[in-house]
Amino acid sequence: MHVMIVPTMGCPANCSYCWNSETVSHVMTNECMDEIVEWLKDFKQEPVTFTFHGGEPLLAGYDFYEHALDKLSTHLSHLYPAYAIQTNLWLMDEKLAKLFKKYEIPVGSSLDGPKELNDKQRGIGYYDKTLEGYRIARKHGLNVSFISTFTNYSIKHKEEIFEFFKENSLNLKIHPALPSIKDDNGDEFALDPKDYGELMLYLLDEYLDLADQIELKNLDHLCKAVFMKKGFVCTYVDCMDSTFAIGPEGKIYPCYRFVDMPEYEIGHVKDKPTYEQLMNTKAEKLLQEYKEFVDEDCRDCKHIDYCRGGCPYNALAVSDNKVKNVDPHCEAYKMIFDKIDELMNQKLGFAFEELDDTVEKDFNFTLNVGFENMPKEGKKFTVMDIALK
Ligand SMILES: C[S@@+](CC[C@H](N)C(=O)[O-])C[C@H]1O[C@@H](n2cnc3c(N)ncnc32)[C@H](O)[C@@H]1O
Ligand code: SF4
Ligand code: SF4
Repeated sequence: MHVMIVPTMGCPANCSYCWNSETVSHVMTNECMDEIVEWLKDFKQEPVTFTFHGGEPLLAGYDFYEHALDKLSTHLSHLYPAYAIQTNLWLMDEKLAKLFKKYEIPVGSSLDGPKELNDKQRGIGYYDKTLEGYRIARKHGLNVSFISTFTNYSIKHKEEIFEFFKENSLNLKIHPALPSIKDDNGDEFALDPKDYGELMLYLLDEYLDLADQIELKNLDHLCKAVFMKKGFVCTYVDCMDSTFAIGPEGKIYPCYRFVDMPEYEIGHVKDKPTYEQLMNTKAEKLLQEYKEFVDEDCRDCKHIDYCRGGCPYNALAVSDNKVKNVDPHCEAYKMIFDKIDELMNQKLGFAFEELDDTVEKDFNFTLNVGFENMPKEGKKFTVMDIALK
């Protein structure tokens, strides 16, 4: 189970395309945190990952995290809690970094590329503040990776952006800028699905040379997904059965993207709703309807098992909250899944030819799972290397 805790929707930054921040917002209290713990004690008996998200989660401050991490770890130890945080790092300091290190919390941050380009999209001064937070986090041994949000502006600079992350050895994950359900904020920046697909193909080509120098999380996940025939991140699984988000006041939603939208509220932690009660709400029934729609609409797509129609939020954002279409990035997903599938089949073909030869020559063969002996066609790595990372 994945529980996203959104301690506040407030944020000191003002990224041009952001749909998930407010200038002023309530900050979660310790009492609310205690209610979360009480609710989850008997909710579902399965391992849980807590992600602190926002808005800007570090606005909640040191005392909040000291209390929250202690409570979650001691009172929910039977759920084997793991943690993550997604933050712009502006408010990272020595004390917080030490605390996060104590719990080995992986940190996701956000940076769109080199200073000038980043600050054009995310506001003047953003780059310097985030890099200072990054320096402190790394000094304390925290593992940090970045989301780079590609807009219809920054896509024109994809080579420069990738070079920046590569040169600075910063691990990254790509976000295509999306329109919002809440307002028109993201619309003018939204990345065209075809451009997103081409970006992923470009990155795959680069990554096959550089997989030992940089981590490109989307591609790690996608190669593994095609190989294992199942999705590994929320976009490509039926997230509705296993993901919940809790807003600053204790209201429960299906995902952080829906926080503060009354029509997507499915309960409140103080009422300790059961799983069945949450699933019986209007919002969860809408997501269930999405799942059934995908079963039908994507039935003939060879990628359905590890795509599952993409993200329901993305789909609902372009259809006025009605289940009428799959994730509009379907075109991009097909482009990258087709390519990985093709390369993987080629490699498996080579592997089996090689296996046949080996069987003929020697019955004491072993299948080399790393596929090191296969032709690399000028590339240092294969999609199998990435899938098996
Ligand atoms: C909403 S922020 C919250 C956490 C934190 N403040 C941060 O920036 O990392 C999480 C991520 O969502 C991304 N995001 C914001 N608006 C978006 C949009 N319209 N489309 C796609 N991603 C977006 C941001 O770039 C950021 O990487
Ligand atoms: S993307 Fe993150 S840092 Fe930027 S305004 Fe939104 S919440 Fe704040
Ligand atoms: S690639 Fe498109 S058609 Fe195929 S499963 Fe994903 S959303 Fe459905």
